[in-house]
Amino acid sequence: MSNIIVLGAQWGDEGKGKMVDLFSERFDIVTRYQGGHNAGHTVYIGEQKFVLKLIPSGILRPGVQAVIANGVVIDPAALLDEIATLEKAGLPVFDQLRISDRAHVIFPFHRIVEKMSEARTDRTAIGTTSRGIGPCYEDKIGRRGIRIADLCDREIFRSLFTALAEDKKTVADAFGIPWELDVAALREQYEGFAERIRPMVCDTSLLLAKAMKGGRRVLFEGAQGTMLDIDHGTYPFVTSSSAAAGGACTGAGVAPTKINGVIGVSKAYITRVGGGPFPTEDHTAVGEQIRKAGKEFGAVTGRPRRCGWFDVPLLQYTAIVNGFDSLVITKMDVLDELAEIPVCVGYKVNGQLIEGMPAANDVVERIEAVYETLPGWQTVTRGTTRLEDLPAAARNYLDFLAAQTGVEVGCVSVGPERNETIIVPGSKLEKLLG
Ligand code: GDP
Ligand code: IMO
Ligand code: MG
Repeated sequence: MSNIIVLGAQWGDEGKGKMVDLFSERFDIVTRYQGGHNAGHTVYIGEQKFVLKLIPSGILRPGVQAVIANGVVIDPAALLDEIATLEKAGLPVFDQLRISDRAHVIFPFHRIVEKMSEARTDRTAIGTTSRGIGPCYEDKIGRRGIRIADLCDREIFRSLFTALAEDKKTVADAFGIPWELDVAALREQYEGFAERIRPMVCDTSLLLAKAMKGGRRVLFEGAQGTMLDIDHGTYPFVTSSSAAAGGACTGAGVAPTKINGVIGVSKAYITRVGGGPFPTEDHTAVGEQIRKAGKEFGAVTGRPRRCGWFDVPLLQYTAIVNGFDSLVITKMDVLDELAEIPVCVGYKVNGQLIEGMPAANDVVERIEAVYETLPGWQTVTRGTTRLEDLPAAARNYLDFLAAQTGVEVGCVSVGPERNETIIVPGSKLEKLLG
């Protein structure tokens, strides 16, 4: 029985949602283990478009249980909005979804604190999604956070909420930030949210343990990407959670011994939203062409995504951090028109080739990417379902990525639809999917 983690190998938006939706046909449970509604996973099913933020992409498969585990931070208003949209589309979300009693709760004052931090003149703005994610995780680590279990206990909630709101108001006042919140009304609103969420709340770690014991298969869905991981990403230009594979264990309350495989999702090129270093960013018209062809605009904030070339040293780094068994290469079709495709195969700093990913931001900023240029295929690949039907240059490109990164390419995506996917016969990925 295989339990697998599917996560982003770059800076997010790799197409995880599409792949998780596709793979979840073979799983009983899909679990989100970190992040919150900063994620935006777009999934197309025929003409229907779904944008999942907090709810695992597995929700779109009838009969698949969706779990929001303890490592996720939940804005109940955003959650209920997302549920309402999906229910309107005919999905029985209240039946399919379970929510951890240990997940932490986001409040509007978390967004106020975030806005303040982003606006400080003596600090570089991270370019966050302004969803209150970071400040909520701060409260979690600071041991003053409010969990779903606390939210669902009226007495405990009242006392914790009052203290937390006071803390935040003090901070806002100290920094001269307007505080327009009616704390009593907010408390009542959250008490109302608690009643609506309560039937879905449980100990999801226990739920997963029992399910796995009973032979049910679990897919752990990463949000963001490894380069946005709080420990392993381009700090401080990262999100505030453990997006890497290790986060699945702490974030879902599941033992490492229960995980059978890790699948990294990567674009055939690379994008990033928000600030921070980006060694292979393309500022020319070609970068603009990729943004247009790949429709590279954020699903959450609508911001244009910065575009660049496939970065082998970065992928080698995220492969070490996550132990990828297999890679999914998405958006191959976006490169269809290019005559030549540069791939970064090395990093130079001060004219010297370096090994690994530097920790210091200013060093990452100064990286000079060393490129090898591969021939493009200039053929339409959308709709291809067999590897042998891809143009030779496209197969050569994939072989090059596998050889350079040291990880097999087990799956190739050539369009947003479920059926625009090639699963490589005989690959580890095919075996993990069972
Ligand atoms: P996620 O956050 O990793 O789930 O990725 P996003 O959903 O934010 O961004 C990926 C976008 O690319 C979505 O709009 C997908 O529908 C789309 N997409 C996924 N795979 C492919 C592909 O192979 N080709 C093309 N053209 N689009 C894709
Ligand atoms: P999915 O799951 C791309 C980025 C933000 C910002 C940084 C911190 O769709 O891949 P945060 O609001 O999390 O504190 O912002 O992280 N970021 C993402 N970038 N895809 C995402 O999610 C992201 N979630 C956060 O742009 O740079
Ligand atoms: Mg996304």
